[in-house]
Amino acid sequence: MTSARHPKVLFATSEAHPLIKTGGLADVSGALPSALHALGIDIKLLIPGYRAVLAKCRDMTPFATLANPFAPGEIHLMESRLPESGLPVLIVAYDAFYNRDGGPYQTGGGNDWPDNPQRFALLSYVAAWLGSRDNSSAWQPDIVHCNDWQTGLAPAYLRFWAGRKASSILTIHNLAYQGVFAADMVHALHLPPESFKLQGLEYYGHLSFLKAGLFYCDRITTVSPTYAREIQHETLGFGMQGLLHERRGVLSGIINGIDTQEWNPETDPHLAKAYSAQQLNDKALNKSALQHDIGLHLDAHAPLVAIVSRITYQKGSDTILGMMHDLVREGVQFVLLGSGDKELERAFRKLALNHPGRISINIGYDERLSHRIEAGADIFLMPSRFEPCGLNQMYSQRYGTPPVAHATGGLADTIVDATAENIASGRASGILFYDMHFHTAIAALRHAIHLYRHEPKVWRQLQIAGMAKDFSWQKSAQEYLQLYRSLNL
Ligand code: ADP
Ligand code: GLC
Repeated sequence: MTSARHPKVLFATSEAHPLIKTGGLADVSGALPSALHALGIDIKLLIPGYRAVLAKCRDMTPFATLANPFAPGEIHLMESRLPESGLPVLIVAYDAFYNRDGGPYQTGGGNDWPDNPQRFALLSYVAAWLGSRDNSSAWQPDIVHCNDWQTGLAPAYLRFWAGRKASSILTIHNLAYQGVFAADMVHALHLPPESFKLQGLEYYGHLSFLKAGLFYCDRITTVSPTYAREIQHETLGFGMQGLLHERRGVLSGIINGIDTQEWNPETDPHLAKAYSAQQLNDKALNKSALQHDIGLHLDAHAPLVAIVSRITYQKGSDTILGMMHDLVREGVQFVLLGSGDKELERAFRKLALNHPGRISINIGYDERLSHRIEAGADIFLMPSRFEPCGLNQMYSQRYGTPPVAHATGGLADTIVDATAENIASGRASGILFYDMHFHTAIAALRHAIHLYRHEPKVWRQLQIAGMAKDFSWQKSAQEYLQLYRSLNL
């Protein structure tokens, strides 16, 4: 490989904002490579040609053509650019796999696509092909940067193929999703049979795309330093703790940034009124507008607690339900935006029916409402059982809406707890709790409500400290750059 000072990088991902998004992976895949591109790095995004992606990228030009190893016909690699940042994007156009209605991973009805192993093996295969000597195009990456299980087979293919090849990095955004499929897929996906073992890509008798990536890549990163430590232990290792501990020498945590232009209360076009740390009183207008929009009583003094999140066990949604139940009688208002577990969705709706004007449940995905909630709420709630990084706690601090969160993963790394010492030093920006129990979680929320109601000076200090923090990608992009360089000396 070349020893370029600025390595060429292929950033392979299964979703990227603003082309296609189901969660934080898309935010990161849109923003991080764009930040690296702005630093002058020769980096391209690789993404499947889902229907939504093809519709949004109209100015595509042919980049390369290769045979599909898993199905008949050819794959057309098309090049385009992300609208705002101008980041080059390579689109894997293969209609039979990607150009269909429904989500990137699931049917409209919420079932996994049955051909997911082939669909994401193909994404991985194309990433590896670009990093291999078979790549006949004019652009050859030095590094293939993979993300989560969907691109986990790329480091494996790279390892098995002969000749000159790129180094590989796998970034873990969420260890809970591992891409586990039947053993016969090993043969179907052209993986060597001898790789199907403990020291390889075998996972309890199955093929795991994530394990393949973790085992065969050159470097592993995850999206916060605390999560990088947590996943080496049984509680949050999801069965991979042994391998991760073994590979700890090449494992590091780099905290995510956020898009500080899109999430800026001073310029946010979605808000009823823009505001800044100097004009925090204008936040009140956003609160009344939000209360009005979502059917809550217009009450300037009621603490308004917000949740924007997938409704799952990971996010502690069951704990949130219990907190709502207990606190709604104490004059607290709640707004929830999200979707997920159908049973919990029903339970939230039912509780809201019993407390009209006090609880607003919004099931679905709504970008605009998520901005208006960050601005209009008083307290942001994130009792996640685990949180590799989390983005909403950063958005909320930037919007002067202090978070109450479980001190895990990226939440622990981005929120400064309101201890007496941190308040005295002016650093406190939220409230953390350390044990994931219902009573500790609700005690933390009660503490926040108490500060909000009775200690307005301290509360304002938390708001201002959060708003002053730098959550931009600059610093993290530099850390990725250093990592890239360490692979190409
Ligand atoms: P995760 O990726 O685990 O779901 P993150 O906090 O990293 O959690 O990222 C979630 C992203 O998705 C954030 O940008 C958040 O604002 C957004 N989001 C989640 N649910 C919704 C929703 N229902 N409507 C709008 N945005 C949402
Ligand atoms: C995952 C994690 C979340 C993280 C995001 C982006 O979805 O659950 O904590 O912020 O990836 O890295």
